[in-house]
Amino acid sequence: MTGKLDWTGKRLKLDVGPVAHGGHCVARHEGRVVFVRHALPGEVVLAEVTEDPGKGFCRADAVEVFTAAEGRVQPPCPLADMSRGRDRCGGCDWQHADPVTQRELKAAVVREQLQRIAGLDREVVVRELPGGPLRWRTRVRLAVDRVGRPGFHPHRSHRVLPVADCPITVPGALDGVTDREWPSGAELEVVADGQGEVHVAQREKAPQRRRGKRGAVISTQVEGSGVAREQAAGRNWELAADGFWQVHPAAADTFAETVRRMAAVPGGGVAWDLYGGVGLFAAVLAEQTGPAGSVLVVESSRRATEDAVANLRDLPQVSFRAGAVEDVLADESLPRPDVAVLDPPRKGAGRAVVEAVCARRPARVVHVACDPAALARDVGLFAEHGYRLAELEAFDAFPMTHHVECIALLEPVAPGRSREA
Ligand SMILES: C[S@@+](CC[C@H](N)C(=O)[O-])C[C@H]1O[C@@H](n2cnc3c(N)ncnc32)[C@H](O)[C@@H]1O
Repeated sequence: MTGKLDWTGKRLKLDVGPVAHGGHCVARHEGRVVFVRHALPGEVVLAEVTEDPGKGFCRADAVEVFTAAEGRVQPPCPLADMSRGRDRCGGCDWQHADPVTQRELKAAVVREQLQRIAGLDREVVVRELPGGPLRWRTRVRLAVDRVGRPGFHPHRSHRVLPVADCPITVPGALDGVTDREWPSGAELEVVADGQGEVHVAQREKAPQRRRGKRGAVISTQVEGSGVAREQAAGRNWELAADGFWQVHPAAADTFAETVRRMAAVPGGGVAWDLYGGVGLFAAVLAEQTGPAGSVLVVESSRRATEDAVANLRDLPQVSFRAGAVEDVLADESLPRPDVAVLDPPRKGAGRAVVEAVCARRPARVVHVACDPAALARDVGLFAEHGYRLAELEAFDAFPMTHHVECIALLEPVAPGRSREA
């Protein structure tokens, strides 16, 4: 009988193959797949195995590069330096690639996910947002180590690497945060809003006797008003600082413009803004419908819905439902939309929501997605209901990380008629 295979700690010389979803590349060694971080396609590296579940694959970090790819650069962040071995920050995946290479890697991932999951062959270009690859991040979550120092986790680890600054974060956001002591085990959420105000919330697990339910957390606003002020789509926005807003300063405007162009709701028409947050896309859709049309915002967070109501109070054509999209769409009396916009969380919209949208046969569906695998799954589901991917835009809204935002336009293959009909 053979024991469980475990290569953890072993060093392997690898010919690095293509990029894969999640910020790593694929290599093969003795018949097994190795997901290797801090490497680039085409390189030859020495990699240390960091995790081995004992199945057909294991995970490794490059620790030395024998043959470098053309796009390799010295990481601008000291926490991404190869000499740190397993003590590299898990927040960034592509610090060792130049910005053009990063976008090519992301385009390859989107292309591969669409091909493998949705069966679509499609060229993908990932566009740069203004501002460059550093100093763009306006929202940061830090963990606090056992002696009270804030920092970031290495990839797939609970250890905390203390930090003084983070070069992808907007200047000044971490001043007064990383140079003081915090309660051990706390989590800090730092938000630098569009007006330059910094909001810091400290989260701690409630003591056992105060926990009303499992996992209860006490949140304390330790800096800032807790109300973020932003500008996008030609409007001013106010929202709970810990509520959802795009992290890159140029993202909200860019995505709203793309949604505007793809949605093209007719004057007097009906639009849905599903997973609407504080109403960013609803504002754009309401401009298109005009006062004679209507826009329905569906959002599960009560606080975000309250903020949306306040932000869009000058647009009477917008109505709001606070609830889960899957529950709200079960209401068959909802007016049929000309256009449905979906901006679901990472896991995507899923079968029930896609079916509920397609049952109303909108002329256009605009799908905003922060995870290409979830997008590909949803695109596949839309295809089952007779909707084809008519257009795809992809944006590098998260430079240095593996994340990429996609906005897809889906249209009925046969307008006004389902494929099954
Ligand atoms: C990616 S954000 C998009 C927000 C908004 N479209 C924007 O661009 O600012 C996803 C939003 O969906 C909400 N959400 C998550 N699951 C939901 C569900 N099942 N039903 C309705 N809303 C949901 C979250 O609270 C969050 O506001």
